[in-house]
Amino acid sequence: MKSFMVQGTKILATGSAIPSSSLNNDQMSKIVQTSDDWIFSRTGIKERRLLTGYNQSVTNLATMASQKALDKISMDPSEIDLIILATSSPNDLFGSASQIQSQIGAVNAVAFDLTAACSGFVLGLVTASQFLSSGSYRKILVIGADVLSKWIDWSDRSTCILFGDGAGAVILESCPIKDNSILNFQLNTDGNYSDHLSIAYQDEISPHPILNLHQGCFKYVSMNGKEVYKFAVSQVPLSISRCLSSINMSVHDIDWLLLHQANERILKAVAEKLSISSNKIIANLSKYGNTSAASIPLALDEAIQENRISNDDIIVIAGFGAGLTWGTIIMRWKSI
Ligand code: COA
Repeated sequence: MKSFMVQGTKILATGSAIPSSSLNNDQMSKIVQTSDDWIFSRTGIKERRLLTGYNQSVTNLATMASQKALDKISMDPSEIDLIILATSSPNDLFGSASQIQSQIGAVNAVAFDLTAACSGFVLGLVTASQFLSSGSYRKILVIGADVLSKWIDWSDRSTCILFGDGAGAVILESCPIKDNSILNFQLNTDGNYSDHLSIAYQDEISPHPILNLHQGCFKYVSMNGKEVYKFAVSQVPLSISRCLSSINMSVHDIDWLLLHQANERILKAVAEKLSISSNKIIANLSKYGNTSAASIPLALDEAIQENRISNDDIIVIAGFGAGLTWGTIIMRWKSI
């Protein structure tokens, strides 16, 4: 436990939202040259949800997920002090969180976006817990939401098969240290490998004729799949081990392993490296694919709805992805 902590973090409610349109692997094979067998055997993905429809954006999903979390505890949105939206697919580069603040009526909340790709929710949760532990804020909404379907090259079979759209939200409240849920965290970044996974901005070659300014636009998701795979299966177990050992816990204490839902083979390889039984892995990516910042809160919300998680269970949460950035949170679940 962090020695500077004066207040703990408690999860009051979770919520999630997914688009209604789905695309299964057989349908995918009509868009690019692939097959259900290839996709499923390499990734564990069967289908994904896509946000279709004109002018639909990440804010629609994020608002829906947040509203569901608020409804579960009949919370007045004006009680929320802070909203953190973890997303890498905003509908406004100046930030989308303020639109959610307005749509849910969180009139007293300050709201900002946090960009850390598939690690975004983990970083959002850790950031929120710092505001709570310092006593700066009492109630915080953290959302992980992405619509990477808008940033995919739908002719690139090496990436388009992986991603889906979704959103997940948690409402946190400060609490006495004895009820604290976030026992420890561990965060890392290695920017030397940022080009392994990116949505890069690219300047046009020709500059503005007078100003010598180059303007451009963002490209599609670009990924070196093999390198990202190797990074995840080597770094995530190390991060989890370090995070556990620094609070004198071990893998034997873990009840649930909730990793970013990138690829079933990655989830199994990480569990195997840590000698964690595969029946402790929380996985839903066969239905949704990789939903980036949404994947962890979406899987958490589903596991809670299915009553799989019991009071005082230890959940190890780990996010990893573009940056490259990765991180672990050790959580003691308190029934809600
Ligand atoms: N369908 C059919 N064939 C495909 C294909 C697809 N969707 N995508 C690639 N292939 C082909 C390749 O062209 C290649 O063919 P070749 O041998 O004739 O050149 C072959 O399949 C193997 O491709 P490769 O890229 O080596 O596959 P892989 O075994 O590394 O699996 C991934 C690819 C993407 C599934 C895997 O690398 C992976 O999961 N990486 C991690 C990605 C990830 O999780 N990213 C997000 C992290 S947040």
